Amino acid sequence: MERKSLISITDFSTEEIVRILEIANEFENNPQPHLLDGKVVATLFFEPSTRTRLSFESAINRMGGRVIGFSDPNISSVSKGETLKDTIRIVSNYCDLIVMRHPLEGSSRYASEVATVPVINAGDGANQHPTQTLLDMYSIKKTQGRLDNINIFMVGDLKYGRTVHSLVQAMSPFNPTFNFISHPKLRMPQEYLDFLDEKKVKYYEHEQFTNIISEADIIYMTRVQRERFQDLMEYEKTKDLYILHNAMLENTKPTMKILHPLPRVNEISQDVDPNPKAYYFEQALNGVFARQAVISYVLGLKK
Ligand code: CP
Repeated sequence: MERKSLISITDFSTEEIVRILEIANEFENNPQPHLLDGKVVATLFFEPSTRTRLSFESAINRMGGRVIGFSDPNISSVSKGETLKDTIRIVSNYCDLIVMRHPLEGSSRYASEVATVPVINAGDGANQHPTQTLLDMYSIKKTQGRLDNINIFMVGDLKYGRTVHSLVQAMSPFNPTFNFISHPKLRMPQEYLDFLDEKKVKYYEHEQFTNIISEADIIYMTRVQRERFQDLMEYEKTKDLYILHNAMLENTKPTMKILHPLPRVNEISQDVDPNPKAYYFEQALNGVFARQAVISYVLGLKK
């Protein structure tokens, strides 16, 4: 059986990403309740999560697999001082696949090097969140009918937001235009701008977006992530700079959709929720199909 981990979205080729989106669509139209019969998946969450952990567990259960793991490292032997290396080696003995979220950048790559089963990165610090990217791309394809030539506005915390880091890399082969809207302290990190320069992808940086919002195909809102700030004064200064209200959507394209990886705090006003352009709750549902596709692909059950 093939063994393949997913740590960074760049671990998969563009062809593989497109194939995984097709598989996700197959799962949406035709659930396969016995595909994971006899398989055990460990979900190790060293950081809080609602959507990622529960949509992974829902995906596994819907395919007939079993789940072991923890959502709070304090109830594991990590709290007694056990290393990540020993934890991963031991858990590898008990499962066919590990899904891991951890606050440290690079921890999932390290886990994949010591594990004897595939590892899926469910978010490592401010670095990458590749399965979020797959569900984001699935949502873009589903709502826009294509991945090519999409004008994507990314708004908020582009520095610590791991979902936007993975998404700019994965969308780059599809001739996107990116508009990055953030406070200068929360700009898209230089390494991702360098990546886009190298791939000759168009991007623009702004501090305001109300004057250009009518150009957007996708508005991707993000939460300013309090837990990543060393200086809480900086968090206080930046947390409420970008709040999307329903009245701001009047002159946007009829086909425009608002995405957000969630959880949200203040950045999307609740008056946006009934607007058909708000897609973030459906986006979270798409996470089940995208994660069914990734699991079956890394286990070699789907090609
Ligand atoms: N989008 C996302 O990663 O949400 P959770 O933190 O709830 O898993």
